[in-house]
Amino acid sequence: MVAPGAEAEERELEAALRPRTLDDFVGQHRVREQLSLVLEAARLRGKTADHVLLSGPPGLGKTTLSMIIAAEMNAPLRISSGPAIQHAGDLAAILSSLTEGEVLFLDEIHRMSRPAEEMLYMAMEDFRVDIVVGKGAGATSIPLEIPPFTLVGATTRAGLLPGPLRDRFGFTGHLEFYSSAELELVLRRSALLLDLALNSAAFAEIATRSRGTPRIANRLLRRVRDWALVKGLDQVDARAASAALDMYEVDARGLDRLDRGVLQALCTKFGGGPVGLSTLAIAVGEEVETVETVAEPYLVREGLLGRTPRGRIAMPAAWEHLGLQPPPEAPGAAFWTVAAGAAQEAEGSGLPDDDPTDTLFSP
Ligand SMILES: Nc1ncnc2c1ncn2[C@@H]1O[C@H](COP(=O)(O)OP(=O)(O)OP(=O)(O)O)[C@@H](O)[C@H]1O
Ligand SMILES: [Mg+2]
Repeated sequence: MVAPGAEAEERELEAALRPRTLDDFVGQHRVREQLSLVLEAARLRGKTADHVLLSGPPGLGKTTLSMIIAAEMNAPLRISSGPAIQHAGDLAAILSSLTEGEVLFLDEIHRMSRPAEEMLYMAMEDFRVDIVVGKGAGATSIPLEIPPFTLVGATTRAGLLPGPLRDRFGFTGHLEFYSSAELELVLRRSALLLDLALNSAAFAEIATRSRGTPRIANRLLRRVRDWALVKGLDQVDARAASAALDMYEVDARGLDRLDRGVLQALCTKFGGGPVGLSTLAIAVGEEVETVETVAEPYLVREGLLGRTPRGRIAMPAAWEHLGLQPPPEAPGAAFWTVAAGAAQEAEGSGLPDDDPTDTLFSP
């Protein structure tokens, strides 16, 4: 439910919800502004736009932006991907059939083969490739002109791109996770397209569970829609949205069963750690890789789990989220002892609950 990637079936559903213009694209203000400048300048000069590299985690809008670039430039769009281009010849075939001004979108560009990559450098810089025909001593290379085009590369792993390739992009946009307020806008837009009636609190409820990712927000919205349909609701409020998402085991912070399982094991079986990753994986009955690549990144990002040289530890927020009291020897427990002590004192002083001086850390 909260995996950032998407299967083929979901990608089809997504197509209907993709914004088509830069103005419709929610959030990412800096990238949007810079990109709009690059495109506007190209239009004014009557030239094809500079090559654009889009990087960032899955589901944040790289494919969407590439389509918007083509639409804003009023240019045809050709779509391919790194894994699909294993031989330089595959790339040559695509490049030689481009029309002037066309936008070539290469998804997962970091997964292209070396020889194809080298051909791409030349095409990007000089709009020319050398096609090698024949083998051994009789091999000759035939230069081939390519009409000016705009390459839009997308990658979830910008660090894996070789420097020379990265340097040939005129503009690099790095997409960041979205704020809850931005996700609410994404959800409002999608609800309008799907003809769903939700109140503001319901949008907020879904947004806070969406892990800063529009793809997940749209997915949760579809599940809430199903729930409302089956329950016969024509207006979804926060309580309905939260009941629906609880049923799908996506909790208030967007954690799913695996995420919670990892934290629960860390806290209850290992006293908050530090514990080795493989031990933790066995405790939750998952592969090491699943725990490391699926659950951990978000838990670390949310400040729930820490990685230390001695192993994984539960952060104070993890205990709090699970509603557990950490033992005194748990990592970070000193903080809790102070907080709990202060709370007790405040209670004992008979101050009313809403008294502004009743803070945990008041002397
Ligand atoms: N800024 C945005 N505003 C509105 N909807 C968005 C935005 N960004 C993404 N979306 C929606 O989220 C979904 C996923 O976006 P997209 O396919 O562009 O992600 P991606 O970065 O290409 O992911 P991947 O790395 O998995 O290919 C799409 O349905 C799109 O409509
Ligand atoms: Mg994509």
